[in-house]
Amino acid sequence: MEDELHRLQTEALAALESGQDPDELKVRYLGRKGRLTAILRGVKDLPVAKRPGIGQLANRLKAELEAALARAASDARGGEAAFGLDIGLPGRRGPLGRLHPITQTETDICDIFIRMGFSVVETREVELDYYCFEALNMPPDHPARDMQDTFYITEDVVLRTHTSPAQVRTMESTPPPVKIVCPGKAFRRDSDVTHTPMFHQVEGLLVDEGVSFGDLKGVLAEFVRQLFGPRTPLRFRPSFFPFTEPSAEVDIGCVVCRGKGCRVCKQTGWLEILGSGMVDPNVYGFVDYDPDVISGFAFGMGVERIAMLRYGIDDIRLFFQNDLRFLRQF
Ligand code: FA5
Ligand code: MG
Repeated sequence: MEDELHRLQTEALAALESGQDPDELKVRYLGRKGRLTAILRGVKDLPVAKRPGIGQLANRLKAELEAALARAASDARGGEAAFGLDIGLPGRRGPLGRLHPITQTETDICDIFIRMGFSVVETREVELDYYCFEALNMPPDHPARDMQDTFYITEDVVLRTHTSPAQVRTMESTPPPVKIVCPGKAFRRDSDVTHTPMFHQVEGLLVDEGVSFGDLKGVLAEFVRQLFGPRTPLRFRPSFFPFTEPSAEVDIGCVVCRGKGCRVCKQTGWLEILGSGMVDPNVYGFVDYDPDVISGFAFGMGVERIAMLRYGIDDIRLFFQNDLRFLRQF
């Protein structure tokens, strides 16, 4: 038995040496019906006294042969496998990043206005009370301040509750005409399925000579058609903002039930997407514009709200949990 084992090994190594395919040799000697395998299986039938000696020898020869075959196979592939590296394999693809759905929506909104000739400005998120409220016609103690639950840094410094301070900052530093959109973050003490403490708005402002409410309607209707499709129903509903007069909110036909009435639109068939209006003459007073010469309109929309409508998402908080299973769908 010992002799046979040694003969097998010599024979196998010689075959390897002579250039036979290591994979074939592996099958011939070590495979399920291989010759060495057969001997190993036979060990249990040997007389008890012989078993350990032969068993050990057979196992050692098996290990040696396996190593020799593996070496030969790796040499045949150019040697990389010896280092666990096969440069012939295609590379493993890393996970690819992508834009957050809110960023995508914000970009798409701005692109529509850029095509209509608006430029993009960004202003600060930590804002003076003056720009967030006072210069927007909301003096201290004005009841309209209650519409926006505010995070205060100090008595005069707030996290902006909307992007409308961009109107004042832009007009303060630029003579008319102005035609801007301002995307960015806003903050309110709010939290439920349609409100988060941090959210995004895109503000718009167009001021020039002879701008009318008809221009406001034209620009916003065109925007809705480009973002939601040419046949989207929309309506202008009278509203109130301290910094616009008259004011209107824009609703679009509910994208979920197509206007029949459902939970998302609270059975009305309509969904609010933005606030807008003609800039109140009082605001021009804060920025030295002459309301007898110029006029204009402003609007502000919630980016999350629009993204929810676009993608049919019923809980705003999904956007900020950073669950990749959610984010990978966009
Ligand atoms: C305003 O913020 C006005 N500044 C809009 C405006 C601009 C009117 C210019 C006239 C002229 P309002 O408070 O309605 O309006 O907020 C606008 C939008 O922001 C809402 O329709 C909603 O989509 C979004 N929004 C408000 N609060 C939250 C919140 N906590 N989470 C998510 N979105 C919010
Ligand atoms: Mg509103």
